[in-house]
Amino acid sequence: MDDIRDCTIEQNRWEYSADEHAVWRLLFDRQQRLLVGRACRDYLDGLEGLGVAAAGIPDFRQLSDLLDRATGWRIAPVPGIVPDALFFALLARRRFPSTCFIRRRDQLDYLAEPDVFHDICGHVPMLMNPVFADYMQAYGEGGLKALRLGHLKELARLYWYTVEFGLIATPEGLRIYGSGILSSAGESVYSLDDPRPHRLRFDLRRVMRTGYHIDRYQETYFVINDFAELFAATRPDFAPIYREIAALAEIAPDAVLPGERPWKAARAKKEGPRVSAARV
Ligand code: PHE
Ligand code: FE
Repeated sequence: MDDIRDCTIEQNRWEYSADEHAVWRLLFDRQQRLLVGRACRDYLDGLEGLGVAAAGIPDFRQLSDLLDRATGWRIAPVPGIVPDALFFALLARRRFPSTCFIRRRDQLDYLAEPDVFHDICGHVPMLMNPVFADYMQAYGEGGLKALRLGHLKELARLYWYTVEFGLIATPEGLRIYGSGILSSAGESVYSLDDPRPHRLRFDLRRVMRTGYHIDRYQETYFVINDFAELFAATRPDFAPIYREIAALAEIAPDAVLPGERPWKAARAKKEGPRVSAARV
């Protein structure tokens, strides 16, 4: 395994400019307003528990100490997208790789790669939840195994449709837990309110067979009932499941299969502008 220390960096928090902190605050305030009644309770609780700086780009060490006390996770600062093996190895050791740079002012709504706002504000609050925290570690271990078995594509779809773009059914209605949605103003609204995308019940094999787009809003979201369900569904050995689905056709991102009953949009609204989602 690559040495984790060779690939992680220092956050160097003092190097952020006043304007970079201001961009964080802009994004943060906007999402705070949007996510009440849209994000799941666990996310909002996590955010509150971290006291994640409404004030500016937070200090990773401080965040890590809070996170560590809650679920044993810490943040590993990285320069950008890290190699798969390292990414999985970090997760398996309860280290969440986070980029340090923040998007520019002209990229508030669109960014083709993860930045510190996506990684910290989108992902880290979810890691305050004990069951989700365990799921992420299990995913890391599963990633190392998928690499060995040559089934990264199938496993990556699971990450995409849960960790990044997952929805959860609650007594109050559909809510967001996927970080790719939580850090995107446009998709926070679109994923729940727009009549166009399909919202389908989560099914492990179905998800692992479904392609996805990285450059626009999702055409399909998968809905779980709770995190215990997600953890239980992904607990079995994937080796035979990979073999099983390798024989089956890939499912297009916009397909609905016979017998699938999509959820309705929460509040059907007039079409807004379609802004591309960030690559996460
Ligand atoms: N059970 C999976 C495997 O055997 C590991 C895993 C757990 C993958 C949770 C993703 C999420 O490969
Ligand atoms: Fe992400």
